[in-house]
Amino acid sequence: MDYNEKKKRHAELSALLASHSRQYYIFDDPKVNDAEYDALYNELLKIEEEFPELRGAKSPSNQVGTKISSKFKKAAHSVAMLSLENAYNENDIGDFMERVRKLANEKNVDFVLEPKLDGLSASIVYKNGVLNAASTRGDGFIGEDVTANVLTIRDIPQKIEDCPQNFEVRGEVIMLKSDFSALNDQREKEGEKLFANPRNAAAGSLRQLDPQITASRNLHFFAYSVISDDVTLSSQMEILNFLRKLGFTVSSSVALCKDQAEAFAFYSAMEKRRADLEYDVDGVVYKVNDLSIQEKLGSSTKFPRHAIAYKFPAEKAQTTVLNIVVQVGRTGNVTPIAELKPVTVGGVVVSRATLHNKDDLEKRDIRVGDRIILQRAGDVIPQVLHPILAERPAYSRAFQFPSTCPSCGSDLLQKESEAAIKCANPNCEAQMIEKLIHFVSRQSFNIDGFGERNIRSFFKNGIIRNPADIFRLEERNAQLRLENMDGWGRQSVENLFRSINASRTISLDRFINALGIPQVGRAVSKLMAAFFGNYGGFIDCIRSQDGEKLASINGIGPSIVEDFNVFFDRKENINTVLELAGDGVSSGLVQITDVGTSSDGVFSRQSLVFTGSLEKLSREEAKELAEKFGARVSSSVSAKTSIIVAGKNAGRKLALAQELGLKIISEDDFLKIIEKR
Ligand code: IVH
Repeated sequence: MDYNEKKKRHAELSALLASHSRQYYIFDDPKVNDAEYDALYNELLKIEEEFPELRGAKSPSNQVGTKISSKFKKAAHSVAMLSLENAYNENDIGDFMERVRKLANEKNVDFVLEPKLDGLSASIVYKNGVLNAASTRGDGFIGEDVTANVLTIRDIPQKIEDCPQNFEVRGEVIMLKSDFSALNDQREKEGEKLFANPRNAAAGSLRQLDPQITASRNLHFFAYSVISDDVTLSSQMEILNFLRKLGFTVSSSVALCKDQAEAFAFYSAMEKRRADLEYDVDGVVYKVNDLSIQEKLGSSTKFPRHAIAYKFPAEKAQTTVLNIVVQVGRTGNVTPIAELKPVTVGGVVVSRATLHNKDDLEKRDIRVGDRIILQRAGDVIPQVLHPILAERPAYSRAFQFPSTCPSCGSDLLQKESEAAIKCANPNCEAQMIEKLIHFVSRQSFNIDGFGERNIRSFFKNGIIRNPADIFRLEERNAQLRLENMDGWGRQSVENLFRSINASRTISLDRFINALGIPQVGRAVSKLMAAFFGNYGGFIDCIRSQDGEKLASINGIGPSIVEDFNVFFDRKENINTVLELAGDGVSSGLVQITDVGTSSDGVFSRQSLVFTGSLEKLSREEAKELAEKFGARVSSSVSAKTSIIVAGKNAGRKLALAQELGLKIISEDDFLKIIEKR
């Protein structure tokens, strides 16, 4: 590659890394695993090594964490919260130790080895022994104030006897693997998006506006460093012992080592124990023990020179495919699932794994009876890598994908150019059940305590067949007598009715989402709701079969419009909507609130238009962020547009906005407004 190509690749990598960073830090929803992120990052570093001029202040190699914090008050750190340099092999560690000895001008340097806990770092400040403030790392200089949430973590003392007057402790907030599995099980039942791994679950749980949610998640805190002028400590080992004495949890797997052999033995032992630990550990941290040497070494803009993290490779395991079943989802998509002999990968017991779709399954030729290799690389959903052909049993046969739906028996269809195979029967029971589960889930009607299990049992017993039945349960109970059903009593039935009644008022976007229209999830529902403005607009559109007009919404393409039209071509679906929410004049079983009455975002009730090319955010991300803060995002400028965000080379729309005298801001201004929140 010549210079120009490298420069282009550098820009590409910078944008990609920034986007992954935002997914990780802001949305707690990474799109790549650590190893994939590191590979991109290392590629960027290599280019910068060759062409240092490409390493501008905005390069990802100059950032720690990410800049935009959204929902919390900001908290400046007393001392920067840096990150750790990564090592991937023994040579990297050897080089590190050698460098330290040279820079410190010492022949022998002791290192403390600690497990690298896979959570999120937090700083906790005590004044006169009382917990005063707590924050996340943020961009390393300014974090998010999560004091109220940290106060709910039982591991963290709120008061400390014999505590130095000004005292700050830093450490890692983590979620135990067992709590993580239980949380995801519960979220699955409620139809909520699953957390990718315990680290994301911990981050999502700490970064909650409601501390009660944090409290319910049973987070833990492992302390590993101290900042205080009011105590004299001379080594990392002393710090750990001091923290333990004050009542903090400190890892018990810590060792002092003098040479590489000891350092590598600790790493191997830790890697072997990794799967049996109650929490995720993604490597070993090597730290200079002597604090005066640490100080002498100082730090670069990103990393302290006294420490390094030696990461573990992705965890793999072998197991046997006991069976392959096909599952029918809410929109009729049929997915092959491998049922596995339960195996622990990275501490999480795995007994099922998706095989994605028919084409993928056939291409990889995974069979019942096969020994397979599974990998969990930072993500909870393990990937089936490949079968071990040498161990394939002689009797094995290629899996025959069924030609009919396992639930209703109708023919399965595959659209040309699409991988998905569908059951097209709208009355298929499996689909109806999945639709109802989606209808009551948190992102939809959010009916507390009415999870997947209850829906399945009520459906099987003929108690509910469609969404409207749910809101008629109470009036039908004179005949149904739910309190006499197995597992139910008077109190639990009353609680259920209370939850159902509490969910009778719903915003238009959630209502649209609840209907389960293919391809119309949370984000698309929001766009549609903003477009319709109120329920009247929505019901008029579906009754007059006018779905085509949705094509004018930025972000809604022809295939979504087609799915919307097909869905409402079915009279039954229109009737469900009418029955639930009325015809716009007379009311139904639920009330729908208008769009734009919420006041919880900086952009609430404002309509935003993005134009020109944005440098830091992709269009999709910009839209997502704007909507997160209450905006309606539109593609066309009119006198009603509140703000236009103009990127580079903005043309016609910007000119029109100037003509109309609209408020025009840059991408940076947009990010700053959000950051101030
Ligand atoms: S020391 C300068 N010790 O790893 C940062 N960090 O990848 C000093 N981490 O931001 C941190 N276990 O969140 C340290 N035993 C440990 C750790 C640890 C996990 C995290 C921490 C840090 C990240 C860097």
